Amino acid sequence: MMNDNFIQVNTEACKRCGQCVNICRGTLVMGNSGPEIAEDLCIECGHCVAVCPNGALNNTRTPLKNQVLIQRDLLINSEIAATFLRGRRSIRSFSSKAVERELIKKLLDIARFAPTACNSQGISYHVIDNKEFLHRISSVIADWTEEAIKSGPLKNSPWVHNTANTISQYRNSGKDTILRDAPCLIIATAKTEQFSLGRDNTHFSFSYVQLYAPTLGLGSCWSGLFEYCATDKYQPLLSLLEIPQNRVITGGLLIGYPVYHFQRLVDREPLQVTWQ
Ligand SMILES: Cc1cc2nc3c(=O)[nH]c(=O)nc-3n(C[C@H](O)[C@H](O)[C@H](O)COP(=O)(O)O)c2cc1C
Repeated sequence: MMNDNFIQVNTEACKRCGQCVNICRGTLVMGNSGPEIAEDLCIECGHCVAVCPNGALNNTRTPLKNQVLIQRDLLINSEIAATFLRGRRSIRSFSSKAVERELIKKLLDIARFAPTACNSQGISYHVIDNKEFLHRISSVIADWTEEAIKSGPLKNSPWVHNTANTISQYRNSGKDTILRDAPCLIIATAKTEQFSLGRDNTHFSFSYVQLYAPTLGLGSCWSGLFEYCATDKYQPLLSLLEIPQNRVITGGLLIGYPVYHFQRLVDREPLQVTWQ
């Protein structure tokens, strides 16, 4: 990026405390009348603007006017946070009730704030909320999964038996055990040449969606089979989806209203940690 003097300092308000310089990745140094650009390594993370106790710094790439003051009374304590985090569950029984598109937008608007390597971001979402279309998607995923178990990428999967059972239930029960009869599937995409980074970023962003969903009365479930089928570039699936040529699918998340509500926080493997 060109060094275009994107840092503006209100020199009267700036106390030269150095917080902006200390948390910057290398762009800022402290000058005589406030922070200055040493080298343009700016990744537009917004730290410099967000940390200033006096609102003295503007970065035109992350403008001060777009940054929201933190309301301390809205921050949660550790006990509430632990219950909230542990309370997130994968939902596999969804109500048939459609999810309002406004709510989906609200969910995805939080996903934008998940961490990404070097603030790369770059994830777009393609939302499918047509039941019949979702059933067509499940049908092609079932075909792919059967092939993948026989001679494809799922052949040596440690969960092959479990996956085979999902498909046999799908074939025999008339239930959509693949997309769980969810009313909505969120498909994440990234630039084709950034598949690996995009997949990581998708997983972080979906984690935010999963955590935020219950606060809106919604539930979610990662669709591993959708993701594996799409990332294996299975043409019958790709040809159903209108994904732009220059983008690649990096994940899929099911969303809907949960039928059941959990009463307990489940246990997991014990914590394993070593110190040095
Ligand atoms: C990458 C990934 C893929 C997953 N794929 C599926 C899936 O295809 N079907 C499903 O029912 N659950 C799927 N899950 C949900 C996991 O089974 C679930 O996270 C795990 O059992 C722990 O339960 P919890 O999420 O309720 O804590 C997936 C989770 C992840 C992270």
